[in-house]
Amino acid sequence: MAHSILLTPGDGIGPEVIEETQRVLGWFRANRNLAFTTESAPIGGIAYETLGTPEPVETIAKAMKADAVLFGAVGGPKWDSLPFEKKPERGLLRLRKDLGLFANLRPALCFDALKDASTLKPEIVSGLDILIVRELTGGVYFGEPKETTTLADGQKRAVDTQVYTTHEIERIARVAFELARLRGKRVASAEKSNVMVTGVLWRQVVTAVHAKEFPDVQLSHVLADNCAMQLVRNPKQYDVIVTDNLFGDVLSDEAAQLTGSIGMLPSASLGAKDANGRQAALYEPIHGSAPDIAGQGLANPIACILSFAMALRYSFGRIEDAKLVESAVDRVLAEGFRTADIMQPGMTRVGTAAMTDAILKALDRLNQS
Ligand code: IPM
Ligand code: MG
Repeated sequence: MAHSILLTPGDGIGPEVIEETQRVLGWFRANRNLAFTTESAPIGGIAYETLGTPEPVETIAKAMKADAVLFGAVGGPKWDSLPFEKKPERGLLRLRKDLGLFANLRPALCFDALKDASTLKPEIVSGLDILIVRELTGGVYFGEPKETTTLADGQKRAVDTQVYTTHEIERIARVAFELARLRGKRVASAEKSNVMVTGVLWRQVVTAVHAKEFPDVQLSHVLADNCAMQLVRNPKQYDVIVTDNLFGDVLSDEAAQLTGSIGMLPSASLGAKDANGRQAALYEPIHGSAPDIAGQGLANPIACILSFAMALRYSFGRIEDAKLVESAVDRVLAEGFRTADIMQPGMTRVGTAAMTDAILKALDRLNQS
Protein backbone atom coordinates (compact mmCIF):
# COMPACT_ATOMS: atom_id res chain seq x y z
CA MET A 1 0.00 0.00 0.00
CA ALA A 2 1.24 3.45 -0.95
CA HIS A 3 1.82 5.94 1.84
CA SER A 4 0.06 9.24 1.27
CA ILE A 5 2.05 12.37 2.00
CA LEU A 6 0.54 15.81 2.00
CA LEU A 7 3.07 18.50 1.15
CA THR A 8 2.40 21.95 2.56
CA PRO A 9 5.31 24.06 1.30
CA GLY A 10 3.99 27.35 2.72
CA ASP A 11 6.10 30.50 2.67
CA GLY A 12 9.66 31.79 2.37
CA ILE A 13 12.17 28.99 1.84
CA GLY A 14 9.44 26.38 2.53
CA PRO A 15 8.70 25.69 -1.16
CA GLU A 16 12.41 25.40 -2.01
CA VAL A 17 13.24 22.88 0.68
CA ILE A 18 10.08 20.86 0.01
CA GLU A 19 10.92 20.72 -3.69
CA GLU A 20 14.35 19.30 -2.92
CA THR A 21 12.91 16.82 -0.45
CA GLN A 22 10.56 15.59 -3.17
CA ARG A 23 13.64 14.58 -5.13
CA VAL A 24 14.68 12.45 -2.15
CA LEU A 25 11.19 10.94 -2.06
CA GLY A 26 11.62 10.17 -5.75
CA TRP A 27 14.90 8.45 -5.02
CA PHE A 28 13.25 6.15 -2.45
CA ARG A 29 10.44 5.39 -4.86
CA ALA A 30 12.92 4.40 -7.55
CA ASN A 31 15.56 2.66 -5.45
CA ARG A 32 14.05 1.35 -2.24
CA ASN A 33 10.71 0.08 -3.36
CA LEU A 34 8.81 2.59 -1.30
CA ALA A 35 5.42 3.65 -2.65
CA PHE A 36 4.22 7.20 -1.98
CA THR A 37 1.48 9.35 -3.28
CA THR A 38 1.98 13.06 -2.82
CA GLU A 39 -0.28 16.03 -3.08
CA SER A 40 0.36 19.71 -2.32
CA ALA A 41 -1.90 22.10 -0.46
CA PRO A 42 -1.62 25.77 0.53
CA ILE A 43 -1.05 26.87 4.12
CA GLY A 44 0.07 30.08 5.84
CA GLY A 45 0.78 33.34 4.04
CA ILE A 46 0.46 31.92 0.56
CA ALA A 47 -2.96 30.50 1.45
CA TYR A 48 -3.96 33.88 2.80
CA GLU A 49 -2.90 35.52 -0.48
CA THR A 50 -4.77 33.09 -2.69
CA LEU A 51 -7.72 32.05 -0.53
CA GLY A 52 -8.03 34.78 2.09
CA THR A 53 -7.24 32.46 5.00
CA PRO A 54 -3.97 31.01 6.36
CA GLU A 55 -5.81 27.83 7.44
CA PRO A 56 -7.96 26.62 4.50
CA VAL A 57 -10.45 23.92 5.55
CA GLU A 58 -9.57 21.88 2.43
CA THR A 59 -5.92 21.75 3.49
CA ILE A 60 -6.81 20.72 7.03
CA ALA A 61 -9.16 18.01 5.70
CA LYS A 62 -6.46 16.65 3.39
CA ALA A 63 -3.94 16.70 6.22
CA MET A 64 -6.30 14.65 8.38
CA LYS A 65 -6.57 11.99 5.68
CA ALA A 66 -2.89 11.81 4.80
CA ASP A 67 -0.53 9.30 6.45
CA ALA A 68 1.91 12.14 7.01
CA VAL A 69 2.19 15.85 6.37
CA LEU A 70 5.50 17.28 5.22
CA PHE A 71 5.44 20.91 6.18
CA GLY A 72 7.78 23.61 4.83
CA ALA A 73 7.48 26.86 6.77
CA VAL A 74 5.05 29.72 7.28
CA GLY A 75 5.31 33.44 7.92
CA GLY A 76 7.21 36.50 6.80
CA PRO A 77 7.38 40.26 7.30
CA LYS A 78 4.84 40.74 4.54
CA TRP A 79 2.11 39.49 6.86
CA ASP A 80 3.32 41.04 10.11
CA SER A 81 0.61 43.67 10.23
CA LEU A 82 -2.28 41.28 9.61
CA PRO A 83 -4.75 40.73 12.42
CA PHE A 84 -3.89 37.81 14.71
CA GLU A 85 -6.44 35.41 13.13
CA LYS A 86 -5.05 35.97 9.64
CA LYS A 87 -1.38 35.54 10.44
CA PRO A 88 0.37 32.68 8.58
CA GLU A 89 1.26 30.95 11.87
CA ARG A 90 -2.44 30.26 12.44
CA GLY A 91 -2.24 27.63 9.69
CA LEU A 92 0.41 25.66 11.53
CA LEU A 93 -1.29 26.00 14.90
CA ARG A 94 -4.59 24.85 13.39
CA LEU A 95 -2.94 21.75 11.92
CA ARG A 96 -1.37 20.92 15.28
CA LYS A 97 -4.67 21.35 17.10
CA ASP A 98 -7.05 19.71 14.62
CA LEU A 99 -4.76 16.75 14.00
CA GLY A 100 -4.19 16.36 17.74
CA LEU A 101 -0.40 16.52 17.32
CA PHE A 102 0.38 16.72 21.02
CA ALA A 103 3.91 15.31 20.91
CA ASN A 104 6.62 17.37 19.28
CA LEU A 105 9.98 15.64 18.92
CA ARG A 106 12.92 17.96 18.35
CA PRO A 107 16.27 16.20 18.20
CA ALA A 108 19.31 18.42 18.59
CA LEU A 109 22.19 16.50 17.16
CA CYS A 110 25.62 17.90 16.51
CA PHE A 111 27.04 16.41 13.34
CA ASP A 112 30.68 15.67 13.81
CA ALA A 113 31.68 17.66 10.75
CA LEU A 114 29.94 20.72 12.17
CA LYS A 115 31.23 20.81 15.71
CA ASP A 116 33.25 23.93 14.89
CA ALA A 117 30.21 25.70 13.44
CA SER A 118 28.60 26.11 16.85
CA THR A 119 29.00 29.36 18.75
CA LEU A 120 29.90 27.16 21.74
CA LYS A 121 33.28 25.52 22.24
CA PRO A 122 33.59 22.30 20.22
CA GLU A 123 34.21 20.19 23.34
CA ILE A 124 30.88 21.34 24.78
CA VAL A 125 28.86 20.32 21.71
CA SER A 126 30.76 17.55 19.94
CA GLY A 127 28.77 14.35 20.04
CA LEU A 128 25.72 16.19 21.37
CA ASP A 129 22.55 14.16 20.92
CA ILE A 130 19.56 15.36 22.88
CA LEU A 131 15.87 15.11 22.22
CA ILE A 132 13.40 17.73 23.30
CA VAL A 133 9.88 16.39 23.70
CA ARG A 134 7.59 19.39 23.65
CA GLU A 135 3.89 19.28 24.50
CA LEU A 136 2.27 20.86 21.46
CA THR A 137 -1.48 21.19 21.74
CA GLY A 138 -1.97 22.63 25.21
CA GLY A 139 -0.60 25.22 27.59
CA VAL A 140 -0.53 28.92 26.95
CA TYR A 141 -0.68 28.47 23.17
CA PHE A 142 -4.27 27.33 23.27
CA GLY A 143 -5.60 28.05 26.80
CA GLU A 144 -8.78 30.10 27.16
CA PRO A 145 -9.41 32.91 27.79
CA LYS A 146 -7.06 34.31 25.20
CA GLU A 147 -8.21 37.84 24.55
CA THR A 148 -7.57 41.55 24.65
CA THR A 149 -10.19 43.72 26.33
CA THR A 150 -10.42 47.46 26.88
CA LEU A 151 -10.67 48.63 30.47
CA ALA A 152 -12.89 51.46 31.74
CA ASP A 153 -9.95 53.87 31.76
CA GLY A 154 -9.16 53.08 28.12
CA GLN A 155 -6.16 50.87 28.83
CA LYS A 156 -5.98 47.51 27.20
CA ARG A 157 -5.66 44.24 29.02
CA ALA A 158 -4.39 41.10 27.26
CA VAL A 159 -4.70 37.60 28.71
CA ASP A 160 -3.17 34.28 27.69
CA THR A 161 -4.01 31.28 29.82
CA GLN A 162 -1.60 28.55 30.83
CA VAL A 163 -3.61 25.40 31.45
CA TYR A 164 -2.76 21.70 31.71
CA THR A 165 -4.78 18.65 32.72
CA THR A 166 -3.50 15.38 34.18
CA HIS A 167 -4.27 13.56 30.93
CA GLU A 168 -2.30 16.02 28.81
CA ILE A 169 0.75 15.73 31.05
CA GLU A 170 0.51 11.94 31.33
CA ARG A 171 0.47 11.32 27.60
CA ILE A 172 3.43 13.59 26.81
CA ALA A 173 5.38 12.12 29.73
CA ARG A 174 4.77 8.62 28.33
CA VAL A 175 6.09 9.66 24.93
CA ALA A 176 9.24 11.04 26.56
CA PHE A 177 9.84 7.95 28.72
CA GLU A 178 9.21 5.57 25.83
CA LEU A 179 11.65 7.42 23.59
CA ALA A 180 14.21 7.58 26.40
CA ARG A 181 14.06 3.79 26.63
CA LEU A 182 15.30 3.64 23.05
CA ARG A 183 18.25 5.96 23.75
CA GLY A 184 20.06 7.00 26.96
CA LYS A 185 17.21 6.08 29.38
CA ARG A 186 17.23 9.50 31.05
CA VAL A 187 14.46 12.09 31.15
CA ALA A 188 14.70 15.62 32.52
CA SER A 189 11.33 17.26 33.05
CA ALA A 190 11.39 21.06 32.87
CA GLU A 191 8.72 23.33 34.37
CA LYS A 192 8.35 26.26 36.76
CA SER A 193 6.85 24.51 39.77
CA ASN A 194 8.33 27.26 41.94
CA VAL A 195 5.93 29.86 40.54
CA MET A 196 3.22 28.18 38.48
CA VAL A 197 0.50 25.80 39.62
CA THR A 198 0.61 24.17 36.18
CA GLY A 199 4.27 23.49 36.97
CA VAL A 200 3.35 21.89 40.30
CA LEU A 201 0.85 19.61 38.58
CA TRP A 202 3.32 18.88 35.78
CA ARG A 203 5.95 17.71 38.27
CA GLN A 204 3.46 15.58 40.24
CA VAL A 205 2.05 13.86 37.17
CA VAL A 206 5.43 13.18 35.55
CA THR A 207 6.67 11.76 38.87
CA ALA A 208 3.62 9.48 39.13
CA VAL A 209 3.85 8.20 35.53
CA HIS A 210 7.53 7.50 36.07
CA ALA A 211 7.04 5.59 39.33
CA LYS A 212 4.20 3.50 37.96
CA GLU A 213 5.28 2.75 34.40
CA PHE A 214 8.92 3.61 33.79
CA PRO A 215 11.04 2.80 36.85
CA ASP A 216 13.82 1.65 34.49
CA VAL A 217 14.26 5.20 33.17
CA GLN A 218 16.09 7.82 35.23
CA LEU A 219 13.98 10.91 35.91
CA SER A 220 15.18 14.32 37.06
CA HIS A 221 13.29 17.58 37.46
CA VAL A 222 14.70 20.94 36.48
CA LEU A 223 13.27 24.43 36.58
CA ALA A 224 12.89 25.69 33.04
CA ASP A 225 15.08 28.76 33.54
CA ASN A 226 17.83 26.63 35.02
CA CYS A 227 17.41 24.20 32.11
CA ALA A 228 18.02 27.09 29.70
CA MET A 229 21.24 27.87 31.55
CA GLN A 230 22.35 24.23 31.78
CA LEU A 231 21.83 23.84 28.04
CA VAL A 232 24.60 26.30 27.29
CA ARG A 233 26.74 25.29 30.27
CA ASN A 234 26.79 21.54 29.78
CA PRO A 235 24.22 20.32 27.23
CA LYS A 236 25.54 16.76 27.15
CA GLN A 237 24.18 16.14 30.66
CA TYR A 238 20.77 15.72 28.97
CA ASP A 239 19.29 12.83 27.05
CA VAL A 240 15.55 13.53 26.71
CA ILE A 241 13.99 16.77 27.97
CA VAL A 242 10.21 16.83 28.35
CA THR A 243 8.50 20.15 28.76
CA ASP A 244 5.39 22.18 28.04
CA ASN A 245 4.44 24.03 24.89
CA LEU A 246 5.95 27.44 25.63
CA PHE A 247 9.09 26.32 27.46
CA GLY A 248 9.56 23.74 24.70
CA ASP A 249 9.37 26.46 22.07
CA VAL A 250 12.13 28.44 23.75
CA LEU A 251 14.36 25.57 24.89
CA SER A 252 14.23 23.87 21.50
CA ASP A 253 15.47 26.97 19.70
CA GLU A 254 18.27 27.19 22.21
CA ALA A 255 19.14 23.52 21.78
CA ALA A 256 19.05 23.93 18.00
CA GLN A 257 21.61 26.70 18.10
CA LEU A 258 23.98 24.52 20.12
CA THR A 259 24.37 22.32 17.08
CA GLY A 260 25.69 25.07 14.87
CA SER A 261 22.82 25.50 12.52
CA ILE A 262 19.12 25.63 12.89
CA GLY A 263 19.10 24.81 9.16
CA MET A 264 20.02 21.23 10.03
CA LEU A 265 17.30 20.18 12.42
CA PRO A 266 14.12 18.27 11.71
CA SER A 267 11.08 17.74 13.87
CA ALA A 268 8.13 15.39 14.15
CA SER A 269 4.74 16.19 15.61
CA LEU A 270 2.71 13.13 16.46
CA GLY A 271 -0.84 12.43 17.58
CA ALA A 272 -2.23 9.54 19.59
CA LYS A 273 -2.48 6.12 17.93
CA ASP A 274 -6.08 5.17 17.16
CA ALA A 275 -7.56 1.67 17.51
CA ASN A 276 -6.13 0.70 14.09
CA GLY A 277 -2.66 1.90 15.03
CA ARG A 278 -3.03 4.94 12.81
CA GLN A 279 -1.31 8.08 14.03
CA ALA A 280 -1.58 11.60 12.66
CA ALA A 281 1.86 13.03 11.96
CA LEU A 282 3.46 16.19 10.67
CA TYR A 283 7.14 16.55 9.85
CA GLU A 284 8.75 19.92 9.67
CA PRO A 285 12.18 21.53 9.51
CA ILE A 286 12.44 23.79 12.51
CA HIS A 287 14.20 26.66 10.74
CA GLY A 288 11.10 28.57 9.72
CA SER A 289 10.56 30.59 6.55
CA ALA A 290 13.85 32.60 6.49
CA PRO A 291 12.35 35.34 4.28
CA ASP A 292 15.73 37.08 3.96
CA ILE A 293 17.11 34.29 1.78
CA ALA A 294 13.89 33.02 0.17
CA GLY A 295 13.84 32.42 -3.56
CA GLN A 296 17.61 32.61 -3.98
CA GLY A 297 18.48 28.93 -3.95
CA LEU A 298 20.58 29.43 -0.82
CA ALA A 299 18.50 27.58 1.77
CA ASN A 300 19.85 24.49 3.47
CA PRO A 301 17.54 21.59 2.49
CA ILE A 302 18.98 19.23 5.12
CA ALA A 303 16.46 19.94 7.90
CA CYS A 304 13.58 19.19 5.56
CA ILE A 305 15.26 16.08 4.17
CA LEU A 306 15.94 14.88 7.73
CA SER A 307 12.28 15.57 8.53
CA PHE A 308 11.41 13.11 5.79
CA ALA A 309 13.80 10.67 7.48
CA MET A 310 11.77 11.11 10.66
CA ALA A 311 8.63 10.29 8.64
CA LEU A 312 10.31 7.11 7.44
CA ARG A 313 11.09 6.20 11.04
CA TYR A 314 7.92 7.20 12.87
CA SER A 315 5.14 6.98 10.27
CA PHE A 316 6.29 4.32 7.83
CA GLY A 317 8.28 2.02 10.10
CA ARG A 318 11.26 2.10 7.72
CA ILE A 319 14.10 2.46 10.20
CA GLU A 320 16.80 1.28 7.77
CA ASP A 321 15.68 3.80 5.19
CA ALA A 322 15.67 6.57 7.78
CA LYS A 323 19.24 5.66 8.71
CA LEU A 324 20.18 5.71 5.04
CA VAL A 325 19.07 9.35 4.76
CA GLU A 326 20.91 10.26 7.94
CA SER A 327 24.09 8.52 6.77
CA ALA A 328 23.88 10.30 3.42
CA VAL A 329 23.69 13.66 5.20
CA ASP A 330 26.60 12.70 7.42
CA ARG A 331 28.58 11.76 4.38
CA VAL A 332 28.05 14.97 2.37
CA LEU A 333 29.02 17.00 5.41
CA ALA A 334 32.16 14.92 5.85
CA GLU A 335 32.91 15.49 2.16
CA GLY A 336 32.86 19.22 2.83
CA PHE A 337 29.63 20.34 1.17
CA ARG A 338 28.16 23.36 2.95
CA THR A 339 25.25 25.67 2.34
CA ALA A 340 25.80 29.32 3.31
CA ASP A 341 24.40 28.92 6.82
CA ILE A 342 27.05 26.34 7.77
CA MET A 343 29.88 27.49 5.52
CA GLN A 344 33.38 27.22 6.95
CA PRO A 345 36.81 28.04 5.50
CA GLY A 346 38.10 25.41 3.10
CA MET A 347 34.72 23.81 2.50
CA THR A 348 32.73 23.63 -0.73
CA ARG A 349 29.91 26.13 -0.78
CA VAL A 350 26.76 24.88 -2.50
CA GLY A 351 23.19 26.04 -2.94
CA THR A 352 19.94 24.25 -2.15
CA ALA A 353 19.80 22.08 -5.29
CA ALA A 354 23.50 21.21 -5.32
CA MET A 355 23.33 20.10 -1.69
CA THR A 356 20.47 17.79 -2.63
CA ASP A 357 22.44 16.52 -5.65
CA ALA A 358 25.25 15.59 -3.26
CA ILE A 359 22.83 13.82 -0.91
CA LEU A 360 21.28 11.85 -3.78
CA LYS A 361 24.73 10.78 -4.95
CA ALA A 362 25.62 9.72 -1.41
CA LEU A 363 22.37 7.72 -1.26
CA ASP A 364 23.33 5.97 -4.50
CA ARG A 365 26.71 5.03 -3.10
CA LEU A 366 25.39 3.89 0.27
CA ASN A 367 22.66 1.84 -1.41
CA GLN A 368 25.23 0.01 -3.54
CA SER A 369 27.63 -0.76 -0.72
C1 IPM B 1 7.90 26.57 16.37
C2 IPM B 1 7.51 27.95 15.93
C3 IPM B 1 6.00 28.09 16.08
C4 IPM B 1 5.68 28.00 17.55
C5 IPM B 1 5.41 29.34 15.44
C6 IPM B 1 5.77 29.47 13.98
C7 IPM B 1 3.92 29.39 15.61
O1 IPM B 1 8.22 28.90 16.63
O2 IPM B 1 7.40 25.59 15.79
O3 IPM B 1 8.69 26.46 17.29
O4 IPM B 1 5.74 29.01 18.28
O5 IPM B 1 5.35 26.91 18.00
MG1 MG C 1 9.69 28.11 17.93
